[in-house]
Amino acid sequence: MIQSPDLLTPSEIKPILKSKWIGKRIHHFQTVDSTNSKAYALALNGAEEGEVVIAESQEKGKGRLGRQWFSPPFLNIYVSLILRPKIPPHQASLVTLMAAVATADAIRTFSGLLPLIKWPNDILLRDRKVAGLLNEIHSEVDRVHFVVLGIGINMNIDETMFSKEIRDVATSLKIETGQTVSRKAFLEPLFEELERWYAIFSEKGSAMILNAWRDRAHIRGKQVKVTSFGETLVGRAIDVDSDGALILETKDGTQKRVVAGDVEYKTKSSNPVVK
Ligand code: BTN
Repeated sequence: MIQSPDLLTPSEIKPILKSKWIGKRIHHFQTVDSTNSKAYALALNGAEEGEVVIAESQEKGKGRLGRQWFSPPFLNIYVSLILRPKIPPHQASLVTLMAAVATADAIRTFSGLLPLIKWPNDILLRDRKVAGLLNEIHSEVDRVHFVVLGIGINMNIDETMFSKEIRDVATSLKIETGQTVSRKAFLEPLFEELERWYAIFSEKGSAMILNAWRDRAHIRGKQVKVTSFGETLVGRAIDVDSDGALILETKDGTQKRVVAGDVEYKTKSSNPVVK
């Protein structure tokens, strides 16, 4: 049972957090257009690595590929984190893969359920999307100035609240566990996992991130349908390359490299419970 109001204000969250630098400074809003847009503006004004923007709701929550992210009040988590990695722009998608691994691990620690990552960065439970990531970067040709890491996690939203279009493909931790979950308690493993995986990325480079991502995505060998820039490709997923692009083998044996798009798995998978 949840005893105190499950608000995401700094005074509610800070006593719970165990992270060292993520969330040291928290910008909390009842509502914003988008936490990513707020964090981007703050970063342009010199906000430090680890500063976080959290909102109880978003009026124009941004999803990938120009979509909207459904952001009703007090039910889910909408968080954006400012990172200042010392990397060239072509490595920025590795930060996204890193964050997908961290989010999947936080969900596993918190719920005991085993999430699957769908390329590039959807987090699925029972083949339905429970979380999504949207990273926005500010860079010059050879150097990233900052990355805004935007994470949306469906926590306590009920199935009936999803629009008809997404009802069959979306889920929440409440739907999957059968219990109301504490949003603020989830921020603790989320920030801790993000710190842990970001340290691995910064100190050890991309190989460990790619391997961790592969372990949680099980994409190799899967039959997939990819929609990318209006083109549809069907084939077998071979791997992700060192920049996080998806390598696909089409029926005629040609290999294609996909940098952005939507993936549909032709075969469904199950998410075993691990707790
Ligand atoms: C996706 O389409 O899968 C990405 C969804 C990302 C949503 C989050 S919610 C917090 C942050 N602020 C935004 O406007 N979008 C991201």
